[in-house]
Amino acid sequence: MAPVSDTAKPSETLRTHLRAATMVAHDLLDHAMQAASGWQQRQDYARFLALQHAARAPIEGWLKTHAPGDLCPPLQTPLIARDLAELGVAVPAPAPLFTLGRAAPGHALGTAWVLAGSALGNRAIAKAVARIGGGEWPVAFLGDGAMMSFWQELRARIERPAPPAEAAAATQAAEAVFAHFLAVAETGHAPDRTLESADA
Ligand code: HEM
Repeated sequence: MAPVSDTAKPSETLRTHLRAATMVAHDLLDHAMQAASGWQQRQDYARFLALQHAARAPIEGWLKTHAPGDLCPPLQTPLIARDLAELGVAVPAPAPLFTLGRAAPGHALGTAWVLAGSALGNRAIAKAVARIGGGEWPVAFLGDGAMMSFWQELRARIERPAPPAEAAAATQAAEAVFAHFLAVAETGHAPDRTLESADA
């Protein structure tokens, strides 16, 4: 498949463009996360949460420093930490620094889109986790209503065409966030020792 350009067509909404540009990256990430952890058993789910925490921590940090308040999605790492505590698992070390180099308008929007858009996938994963875990596994992160509300508000900003420079910067940021998550999933950045106490 030909690579999708960072340049959006004038009539294309930013959301459509971002989805097309990162579709392959999303599929890779989905597969990598299922391979690295999945959520078929309690310890798999704990590892999934640990990977999510390790990956999100530096991105939440980047947004806090660089994004305006209305582009800072609700923090997910405290919710993940709560779920991990309920599973008896320590919070992992964060992944290495996330950075985008020279700031450009659109970076924060693209970054926020990836984090908030992942709530759509989380909703589907939450259903599977409820079924597999018999409703016993903690889902503060997967079921976070605040992130879903943020996502609904963000839609107004992305379901419209964006100026080309903003669309290009948003796409670069979104690609970087997916690459960051993929690196964490593929290297299993969350240290195994944090998972030793996970109940089988
Ligand atoms: C772990 C396995 C994952 C699965 C099974 C999954 C599944 C999904 C599904 C089913 C959707 C489409 C929902 C819909 O159109 O109604 C979706 C969208 C999305 N996911 Fe994932 N996802 C996963 C991981 C991730 C991760 C880790 C991220 C972010 C780092 C992410 C970011 C997104 C984004 C940005 C969208 C698109 C939002 C939009 O429609 O504009 N996903 N995911």
